[in-house]
Amino acid sequence: MTAPSPTEGEQRRLLELKYNVTAWFYDILDYPWERQYRHWRPQLVGNLRGEVLEAGVGTGRNLRHYNSSVNLIAIDLCKAMVKIAKKRGGAAVCMLDCRQEDATKMASIPSNHFDWIISTFLCCVLPYNLQVLAIRQFERVLKSGGQIRLLDMVYSKIPQFRRRQDFFTPFVEKVYGARFDRNVLENLQESSRLRITNTYFLKKDVYQVIEGYLVD
Ligand SMILES: C[S@@+](CC[C@H](N)C(=O)[O-])C[C@H]1O[C@@H](n2cnc3c(N)ncnc32)[C@H](O)[C@@H]1O
Repeated sequence: MTAPSPTEGEQRRLLELKYNVTAWFYDILDYPWERQYRHWRPQLVGNLRGEVLEAGVGTGRNLRHYNSSVNLIAIDLCKAMVKIAKKRGGAAVCMLDCRQEDATKMASIPSNHFDWIISTFLCCVLPYNLQVLAIRQFERVLKSGGQIRLLDMVYSKIPQFRRRQDFFTPFVEKVYGARFDRNVLENLQESSRLRITNTYFLKKDVYQVIEGYLVD
């Protein structure tokens, strides 16, 4: 007999629990990768203007790169991560409201409000059904014409990198809840309200940026 699949509530609780533990050493654990990511973050958020939502802010690594004209709401499911992000947000020059909020519900977030939604490495931690709920929320809270820019990791087609990813998969899933096969692009393409305008890789064929906008 196979075990029943976890419910959405269970999946959320698992992620929250995982990150409440991981938060204590997240920046140390992520350091080898962050040495790479820190070169990408300014270009991912530095040219944004207006009302911006960052979903899955983590320990707040993007925060100091937002322009001073930005009005930013940064959310994360996990209280311990939000606490660290708030501290790091002290170095931000934008207007910042950092709060605990679930990207798949966004209960405290107004509809039709944002010019931009940004997330870095959020969707690759969300299982399919949670990802679909988050995408629906993106559709709800974006203004018409509002844009998305998402960075996630995907499986490489290059055998050498794929072998490396296969080696790290159990670690990445256990510690971050992340997977290389979350099919973020495909899931976004299922949305009738989001148009994907651009996809590109920041490194090899692994770190994928997806850009798009909300149609009327
Ligand atoms: C891999 S970390 C990425 C953190 C950060 N964006 C970065 O680039 O370093 C994923 C983050 O997503 C958060 N997260 C997971 N599920 C979430 C949800 N349903 N709503 C909001 N945040 C969530 C986790 O708590 C964690 O902080």
